[in-house]
Amino acid sequence: MQPDKRTQTILDGFGTYFEGAATHLAIAPGRVNLIGEHTDYNEGFVLPVALDRDVRVLFRSRDDGRVRLYALEFDSWADFEIGATKRSSQLWPSYVQGVGLELADLGVELKGFEGVVSGNVPRGSGLSSSAALEIAAAKAFLTAANQIHTLTGPQLARAAQKAENEFVGVNCGIMDQFISTLGEEGHALLIDCRSLDYRRVPFPEGVSLVIGNTKASRSLAGSAYNERRAQCEDGVHRLQAAVPDITALRDVSRDDLEAHRSLLPATVFRRCRHVVSENERVLKTVDALEGGDFRVVGRLMDASHESLRDDYEVSSEALDRMVESMRSHPGCLGARLTGAGFGGCAVALVEAGTEKDVREAVQEAYAKAMNLWPEVYISPPSAGARVLPLNAGSY
Ligand code: GLA
Repeated sequence: MQPDKRTQTILDGFGTYFEGAATHLAIAPGRVNLIGEHTDYNEGFVLPVALDRDVRVLFRSRDDGRVRLYALEFDSWADFEIGATKRSSQLWPSYVQGVGLELADLGVELKGFEGVVSGNVPRGSGLSSSAALEIAAAKAFLTAANQIHTLTGPQLARAAQKAENEFVGVNCGIMDQFISTLGEEGHALLIDCRSLDYRRVPFPEGVSLVIGNTKASRSLAGSAYNERRAQCEDGVHRLQAAVPDITALRDVSRDDLEAHRSLLPATVFRRCRHVVSENERVLKTVDALEGGDFRVVGRLMDASHESLRDDYEVSSEALDRMVESMRSHPGCLGARLTGAGFGGCAVALVEAGTEKDVREAVQEAYAKAMNLWPEVYISPPSAGARVLPLNAGSY
């Protein structure tokens, strides 16, 4: 079998920095979320798909406990002993190191490995390049230690999320790691972020996804994300005075929220209203997708964007213009910001066959509105993480 162009680049990279051959290629995709934004850390529902863009680690195990990886795009090394907690001056090695610490914490007996990392998920754009790196690294750790079946997919995703929360210091939910691990070609996943149960939702043939990268900076993202999380927790705390059984916004109905509105400061009420209504929209979207009601799916996506913009206040000028540019083409059934917000990407559901026209329309309209050239990606729902053995002669 001939390696594809990307694999060839990685093989060449390995040849430059190591002697001999690698034994495995770990692949983990980025993601786009169809709907269900800022619901994961409220123990609610999300509906992401894995992208055809990914992070790859080409590696072989070592006899000691050291990890040595060279990242082609960063042109830099990660080099650490498993268990070490001292950080490198660069950010990317921390994702790998943190995952190792979490896996060790779960009792997995790890071994060192070495190789080359390369990715084509746009970085810092809300398409989960970090989760993809974490999951590719987790797969490499487990394969090198001959422990690939030790953890279930949800356990692996949880470990990677904890690594990001505790070692990297980003307080994300579980959606990105989960879909990167468990995504399936041709499907979205409905994930219950409380129980971690999930269901495959076939992605229908009549529609496609178009993703627009605003290329606008997301400087506020970290602090505002944490502030939103805190506001949701505050809402739960205040609502417990009237409805003691609730432990997360997942438990709150629209009626409860309206009935106890007076317990909440106005901003907190609007944050809660977004989460409660977004959970409803996710479940309605699944019904509509399964029923072939694409116009309804589009309207739910539009409503999600409005709610994120007005109630949750995580949109931006660039994201609003991107969504408008997408909607300006008649093939677009609905569009919304995707990921944490404040910049990054928007996703549109479009009629199959119109993807390229929508892309052109977006490029023109967005560039004109923002004086910024966007990137537009068309990706089918793709497979989740996997490890390919490189048998002698296969590449
Ligand atoms: C980021 C986080 C996810 C999720 C989204 C918002 O992508 O990593 O866990 O909270 O924002 O839906």
